[in-house]
Amino acid sequence: MSKIPLQFRHNGRDVAIFVDGGTNLLVALRELIGDMTPKFGCGQGGCGTCSVLIDGELHLSCLTLAETVAGRAVETLDGMKQGPNLHPLQRAFADHFAAQCGYCTPGMLMAATALLRRNPKPTLEEIKVGLDGNLCRCTGYTGIFEAIQACAVGAK
Ligand code: FES
Ligand code: FES
Repeated sequence: MSKIPLQFRHNGRDVAIFVDGGTNLLVALRELIGDMTPKFGCGQGGCGTCSVLIDGELHLSCLTLAETVAGRAVETLDGMKQGPNLHPLQRAFADHFAAQCGYCTPGMLMAATALLRRNPKPTLEEIKVGLDGNLCRCTGYTGIFEAIQACAVGAK
């Protein structure tokens, strides 16, 4: 099968790869780019752990054909750190014990990023809606919601 050339921006860096037709973005990121931060959970759109931002919008990379991101900007957890420092959301997740095994955390952080960009001061209800596509199998969601609230604009 012939390969399809694909170029896009990955966390602010131009990348060029070849994909098989039908390859999903999750596989392209993990196996061809080497970005292991988007996780494979269900592979069918039900868990959110593969969440990434495409042109700033939240998407499930397991349900996104890699070819469709040609020329677009893809953001993953791998691009979230600020030099040697954690992003404030990552710091807040640590401070609020918002992760146990951590498998869902990359997707949670991407969903939280998308939410806070479009709504910098969400209510608790809006946080719940913003993360309703992301499942955590380990913990209660309280720490996750508290971490996001702590990062809302104006939060003390
Ligand atoms: S792995 Fe994509 S939604 Fe579960
Ligand atoms: S912390 Fe384990 S799945 Fe969420």
